[in-house]
Amino acid sequence: MRLGVNVDHVATLRQARRTFEPDPVAAAYAAERGGAAHITIHLREDRRHIQERDLEILSRTVATGIDLEMAATPEMVAVALTYRPTFVTLVPERREELTTEGGLAVADHRERLTEIVAELNNGGVPVSMFVEPSEEHVVASREAGAAAVELHTGGYANASSADRAVRREELAAAARFAASLQLKVAAGHGLTYYNVQPVASIPEVEELNIGHSLVARAMFVGVEEATRQMVALMQEARRGL
Ligand code: PXP
Repeated sequence: MRLGVNVDHVATLRQARRTFEPDPVAAAYAAERGGAAHITIHLREDRRHIQERDLEILSRTVATGIDLEMAATPEMVAVALTYRPTFVTLVPERREELTTEGGLAVADHRERLTEIVAELNNGGVPVSMFVEPSEEHVVASREAGAAAVELHTGGYANASSADRAVRREELAAAARFAASLQLKVAAGHGLTYYNVQPVASIPEVEELNIGHSLVARAMFVGVEEATRQMVALMQEARRGL
């Protein structure tokens, strides 16, 4: 199972002062040393954290791979085709949200998304869709030409303890369904050192993308060690399978 380390919030801290530190490029290097399988960044329309400069440098310095999370817009397709990340994850984006609050409603925007996926694929960039754990959006992702889905784990992460098992089962069922359609399956959002293992133990989930909790821990133990600790928890969960 692979861990994508999302370094957006290293850039959030830098942008709080519009200065040069801390640098997400340095964080990416430390995450790779700690066992990250790739580096995840979200270049938002409002550029609130990651800047094009970061993508430009990371695309030359990252040794593992880059997952570029982005809105499904012509502007962002042009950016992706310029830097050619390892893959793109299409996410919904609203300016007023604190973070990506829901999955992409693929079934409601089939035509436009099919065109965007084709443009990216023609440029050699595979596409993953960030979706709620529902069959409707998983199957629509497959039909739109995506190679992978990332299941939104926010519902699971925010669930009350009484509801958590149900939300985990929802994720497991969506992962099984996606894998049966030959889609690669990732998951992420709101995962922490305390709630990651039940998701990491879903056999069809091959990858997790984790940002906030990992960067928060990194303040105390450093990015390399925070990554190592998360990878260890994921591996422990997989061994229990
Ligand atoms: N995956 C996707 C598609 C996301 O948009 C985000 C947040 O940028 C994450 C994973 C990471 O979420 P978190 O920061 O809550 O770990």
